[in-house]
Amino acid sequence: MSADTSKKVKPFLKWVGGKGQLLNQFESLFPKEYNSYYEPFIGGGAVFFSINPKKAHINDINKTLVQTYTNIKKNIDELISGLKKLEKEFITKDTDARKKFYYSIREKYNLLTHDDFDRSLYFLFLNKTAFNGVYRENSKGGFNVPIGSYKNPRIVDEENLRLVSKTLENTKITSGSFVDAVKNAKAGDFVYFDPPYHPLSETSSFTSYSKDAFSKDDQIRLRDLFIELDKRGVYVMLSNSSAPFIQEIYAGYKQIPVYANRMINSKSSGRGKISEVVIVNYQPRLSLENVFEKDLSISSQYQYQ
Ligand SMILES: C[S@@+](CC[C@H](N)C(=O)[O-])C[C@H]1O[C@@H](n2cnc3c(N)ncnc32)[C@H](O)[C@@H]1O
Repeated sequence: MSADTSKKVKPFLKWVGGKGQLLNQFESLFPKEYNSYYEPFIGGGAVFFSINPKKAHINDINKTLVQTYTNIKKNIDELISGLKKLEKEFITKDTDARKKFYYSIREKYNLLTHDDFDRSLYFLFLNKTAFNGVYRENSKGGFNVPIGSYKNPRIVDEENLRLVSKTLENTKITSGSFVDAVKNAKAGDFVYFDPPYHPLSETSSFTSYSKDAFSKDDQIRLRDLFIELDKRGVYVMLSNSSAPFIQEIYAGYKQIPVYANRMINSKSSGRGKISEVVIVNYQPRLSLENVFEKDLSISSQYQYQ
């Protein structure tokens, strides 16, 4: 089966912090024209896939995630046939047997190194069958998310995976620092940063306790990089929470409010629209006045937290 290029490519993962629901608001905020596209915190890549750039460099600190992108780019046939086998085995089992199978795959996954092909295969399987599609590791780096309660999870979407593979053809894929990921960005290129968000309040982020927490110092290093790229003539766009700290460190740049439905805590009452900001160093596709006119409710409701 070859990729049907008339179809639109979609993200292939469920990923926390995914930008899928913000794409409508984002489109008007991209630069009018640019050359290469860079996304140093790629995660599930919702923005990258919606843009479907001709030439790009994507990066993430999660080595298994990055190795999976690489395998989709280079070993798509092997990956699809492996996933089809896993899907068949899983779907034909009853609930108890599915549970056993899930935990046996999770155990195998945790014994493999990042560059082992089967680890990418299991990563994709676990993403479709784990609770809420969450990716969480314990202090020793073991994936520890329990099974989700899906009736018939779609484990392999062959058509989309082939489109993803095609999209990645002219994409450089790395797992390094966000600083290195934009080393080659030149005037006229476009960089989109979607880092882990700074918490709105000191207690609202579980990431602050994990070993890979993104600290205040990291946010400052990223801001310094934003300024350096700005000086180089690169178009830069960055998403973050609307925490006062973020508004302070980007004072002087355009800060545009966007609203997202996010899980704020594990209770369903914690779901709600929360304000986030997009910071840019250029004149977006639509002038900001037009953006606000289009959605006055967003700008008038926006308040500094
Ligand atoms: C908010 S998510 C990105 C979501 C993505 N834009 C999407 O739509 O799915 C942040 C990503 O940054 C990655 N990350 C965290 N710290 C990092 C670092 N120091 N360098 C590079 N990537 C990092 C995480 O692994 C995660 O995938």
